Amino acid sequence: MAKAKRQYVCQNCGAVTYRWQGQCADCGEWNTLVEEAGESAFSAKHDLSKGGRTLALETLDAHSIMPERMLCGIAEFDRALGGGFVAGSATLIGGDPGIGKSTLLLQAAGRLALAGKSVVYISGEEATAQVRLRAQRLGLGKAPVALASATSVRDILATLGGGSDPDFIVIDSIQTMHSDLIEGAPGTVSQVRASAQELIRFAKDSGAALVLVGHVTKDGTIAGPRVLEHMVDTVLAFEGERSHQYRILRAVKNRFGGTDEIGVFAMGEGGLGEVANPSSLFLTDRSRDVPGSVVFPALEGTRPVLVEVQALTVRLASGATPRRAVVGWDSGRLAMVLAVLEARCGLQMGACEVYLNIAGGYRLTDPAADMAVAAALISAFSERPVPADAIVFGELSLSGEVRPVAHDGLRLREAAKLGFSTAWGPKGMKGVGGISVTGFTRLGELVDLMLGRD
Ligand code: TYD
Ligand code: MG
Repeated sequence: MAKAKRQYVCQNCGAVTYRWQGQCADCGEWNTLVEEAGESAFSAKHDLSKGGRTLALETLDAHSIMPERMLCGIAEFDRALGGGFVAGSATLIGGDPGIGKSTLLLQAAGRLALAGKSVVYISGEEATAQVRLRAQRLGLGKAPVALASATSVRDILATLGGGSDPDFIVIDSIQTMHSDLIEGAPGTVSQVRASAQELIRFAKDSGAALVLVGHVTKDGTIAGPRVLEHMVDTVLAFEGERSHQYRILRAVKNRFGGTDEIGVFAMGEGGLGEVANPSSLFLTDRSRDVPGSVVFPALEGTRPVLVEVQALTVRLASGATPRRAVVGWDSGRLAMVLAVLEARCGLQMGACEVYLNIAGGYRLTDPAADMAVAAALISAFSERPVPADAIVFGELSLSGEVRPVAHDGLRLREAAKLGFSTAWGPKGMKGVGGISVTGFTRLGELVDLMLGRD
């Protein structure tokens, strides 16, 4: 057999080189290349065009059975999955340490076990006593979850394959798993890849729904290999600020459903509670009639969530470079809105320090936030509050035009439900549920209105 060739694998992006380098040529990260044993060198003597078996090709309209779905009973979790776990599928859930991944999965495992499913929970990070203690705190001490603390994939597969096929398997976390077929410490790209591959194969063969917990790196991607995301059917991101109680479960990839639904949770004494009405949660501590505060009806999939956008501007006396700090929104997008306000609306914000914050640790990705941010900035800059009963939304173009956005009806209806009576948005939207609407075609009109200019 040909000798295995040495290779260096980037622990950040999974790129492979055959010579050690200080910096990964693919992702540009420093000191991420680690030596790992490669697959045995490929021999050019093998001719792949010979010796294969002929595949039976099928048609698209052939009858196929819908995969079986399994609801865990935590509605927000099932919603993010697009209607529950799919039998024989693999789900990867990523998130910062301490965000609540283990708690959420233990709650789901407990619920499923109580509903009569056969559930196995393997922890590679905590001792069984710790998991048991947590389950008792969560009120799931009596749930018939089969528990083990293990890291060897060989032992885990032997255990899983030994009894009757489980319905639901949790592996917490994939970075602690170890396959003895591969050299290297747990957590390296090839270990993670090999362990995941074996576990996923077991899930597909046995028809179990497999959930892998994945660690997240500084920049928010699931640690180690992007390849892991390609191997699984569903990728979920569990987000939130540890200092806040809200957590959002978002599907990043889903082979069995959409990726636009979110689940909202609040971390409390009894674990993660479901939040059926997120808007009221994000607006509870809102400061009314304060300059720089604006309520924005964000849309998550088909679900409107009202959040508070806060802006603060500080005029600098000297010619020092002003600071721009953003929490919960894209800083490039903020720079764009500031440039539009300066160039198209004549607001001299260039010399101001600008701080933007989305309240409650929420992260905005909806492009309709442009107008809400602009309104918050104008309000902070002019020290005139936006009416407390108003919501603001709309997308901005570089020319200063206000563009229509998707689902304005849904946004207005949610705002009406929560007692808002005014909406500032793109021209052409219709008032819903008694909300009076003001439509704008240009951002300049909003500036005129807010500054009382004619
Ligand atoms: P955990 O699920 O261990 O996070 P992860 O697996 O993502 O690293 O969650 C840990 C945090 O959650 C911990 O800091 C304490 C908090 N927590 C509660 O506030 N209430 C609870 O009932 C539980 C179980 C945890
Ligand atoms: Mg954990």
